[in-house]
Amino acid sequence: MHTATQDRIIRPARNVLGSLRLPGDKSISHRYGMLAAFAEGTSRFTNFSTGADCASTLACMEALGAKVAQLEDGSVMVTGVGGRVTPADQALDCGNSGSTMRMISGLLAPQQGRFTLTGDASLSLRPMERIRKPLQAMGARITLTDGHAPVIIEGNPLQPIDFTTPVPSAQVKTCVLLAGLQTAGTTTVREAVRTRDHSELALRAFGAHLTRTVDSVSIAGPQPLHAIDAAVPGDISSAAFFLCAAALFPGSSLVLDAIGLNPTRASLLDVLTVLGVHIAVIEIEEKHAELIGTVQVTAPEHGLRSTEISGALAAQLIDELPVLAAIAPYTSGGIRIRDAKELRVKESDRIALVAANLRAMGAEVMEFDDGLDVPGGQTLHGAVIDSGGDHRIAMAFSVAALRAEGDTLIQGADSAAISFPEFFDLLDQVAER
Ligand code: S3P
Repeated sequence: MHTATQDRIIRPARNVLGSLRLPGDKSISHRYGMLAAFAEGTSRFTNFSTGADCASTLACMEALGAKVAQLEDGSVMVTGVGGRVTPADQALDCGNSGSTMRMISGLLAPQQGRFTLTGDASLSLRPMERIRKPLQAMGARITLTDGHAPVIIEGNPLQPIDFTTPVPSAQVKTCVLLAGLQTAGTTTVREAVRTRDHSELALRAFGAHLTRTVDSVSIAGPQPLHAIDAAVPGDISSAAFFLCAAALFPGSSLVLDAIGLNPTRASLLDVLTVLGVHIAVIEIEEKHAELIGTVQVTAPEHGLRSTEISGALAAQLIDELPVLAAIAPYTSGGIRIRDAKELRVKESDRIALVAANLRAMGAEVMEFDDGLDVPGGQTLHGAVIDSGGDHRIAMAFSVAALRAEGDTLIQGADSAAISFPEFFDLLDQVAER
């Protein structure tokens, strides 16, 4: 587990009102940081993610020879290694970050040298076979222990692959594309559900050529990458906590500025609309092919309706499911979640922890292997919440606590800093007490 130790008390709120600008998207920051560190030249990013996970990516890339500087104006400058990393003497510490470990593995497998990637207790329990398999099929030499970290890579030149992802995973897709970028011939990744496409967009922004069809992406290697300047869009998965908080209070009004609205990430807005939330998207612009817009949200006067999230939608909303489940008791007809077994192998078993914490707050909930049924029309009471050191569980139940009767204690609340260190301060800003 992430060693989160600080507890936090969340008092109920009367309303959610205000306007916020959120730090940069975690997924995009990982990719921009990693690609900039690998590219030729110096890249500069504004609104880079402030989360510990992206700091893990930057630290690993620094250990591999890239130069990283945090400027006084908050921007991040990354000078890349020009396509050839320096093997580090020590293990590369990926912290709590699955994205770091899985994506860097693809970047390193075709490089020269020996690399060891380690992580914290939570990351060391997460499945890594899913990246070893395609990389090994490309000829990579990778050793795991029982399918888990440490990931030990003996780098060598690879062969291209035509690979179909067995479970929807943007991290696995990216891992294979980063190996393909450095491999002579055409590497193709096929996926049944289109997962977030930030890697495809970022690779193009850094100068690579990719071809895409409805269900595949191909890259012909080797190709060089060139530095870019970019503004990272606000993180829509962080915005999710505030959008759901605002959804709970009739009369609420929240404006979120400059949020990433990439269509492979924005399904939450559709789900909230189905629940009856009024959402207006204004001032959309495009930067490096990523959509950025301002979102205005108001809760319905007569409460939230019900919905089901399954199939492709479950895969696309995977990071938002904990907070949707946490607000589900306050809907009129509940929320049914299926086809979300991947939740069990995230930073924690999110199905089990969501069910246990909803029960702690007095809610009725049914747990399934691949999801949850959370009936609506329930009243929750304040309780002690076990975040399991998982950032999204800590934040999801801080949102549920806003409508509960009595105070809620979030154990391990500091885990929020994995993706969103500013979360509690911003929540205090918009929660009217
Ligand atoms: C991510 C992909 C998803 C997601 C994670 C970030 C990414 O994981 O849950 O928070 O940035 O590519 P999977 O690739 O395991 O589905």
